[in-house]
Amino acid sequence: MKWVVFNQKGGVGKSTICTNLAAVSANLGYKTLLVDLDAQGNSTFYSGFVPDNEESLTVADMFKQVVGWFSTPNPPEAYTHPTAVENMSVLPASPALNDMERELESRYKMFKLRDTLKELDTFEHIFIDTPPNFNFYTKAALIAADAFIVPVDCDDFSVQAVSRLLDNVMELKSDHNPNLDFAGIVINQFSTQAKYPKKLIESLEAQNLPLFETRINSAIKVKESHAEALPLVVGYPKHKVSVQLNTLFEELVSE
Ligand SMILES: Nc1ncnc2c1ncn2[C@@H]1O[C@H](COP(=O)(O)OP(=O)(O)OP(=O)(O)O)[C@@H](O)[C@H]1O
Ligand SMILES: [Mg+2]
Repeated sequence: MKWVVFNQKGGVGKSTICTNLAAVSANLGYKTLLVDLDAQGNSTFYSGFVPDNEESLTVADMFKQVVGWFSTPNPPEAYTHPTAVENMSVLPASPALNDMERELESRYKMFKLRDTLKELDTFEHIFIDTPPNFNFYTKAALIAADAFIVPVDCDDFSVQAVSRLLDNVMELKSDHNPNLDFAGIVINQFSTQAKYPKKLIESLEAQNLPLFETRINSAIKVKESHAEALPLVVGYPKHKVSVQLNTLFEELVSE
């Protein structure tokens, strides 16, 4: 099963949720792959992956190979690397993704990620992190995935942003991936006292949008775990937010 975590709004917790869900999956014994399509490489770093003298092949190299810019053909496994988490590998991001995007798009290479991930079928679960844009890489991820997860934050009241995002995804779904499922919206940085989350949840429910019951609280430890390059659920497995991320995973796989 392949999930993509997507929201074109920046900083809502895509990389945090994607990496931790992958780590939960790996902790439970599933052979898991984290795919980082954001040139910022936040998930790559957070997974604890340490590049081998810059020689480790990245997802950018994978795209180079499929368009024939890369002379040595490699098996898809060559682009995946172990992380700090047992059972979890990463297909790392690279800043080179930015430079390649226009060329890849103009040559209609949006389906190549799906084809590569199909070959990586020894991974039982794949989690794909995307950049905060509806760009080539996000589209490639939504085409490659079985289901998408949308994290939203409670900073402002952004139901309109969610509707816009869903319009984009639904168009892509009907054109290119009719089987894509909407796994659900996950509320991140949730606080019971604040007024925005309540309004947001009411509006999303009023529109009959799928909402995970599990909410993710805000916690300093989340930021600390990023700085330590170790997913929260691994570094602080008993932390309240780790428990929530485990429950979120259970909801996800029980769908
Ligand atoms: N539940 C949380 N509690 C506290 N901090 C959080 C939480 N979730 C995310 N953060 C922090 O918010 C920032 C943005 O999170 P993250 O990088 O996961 O978002 P993103 O949607 O992937 O961002 P981008 O759009 O830039 O890729 C990070 O500094 C992260 O540590
Ligand atoms: Mg991110």
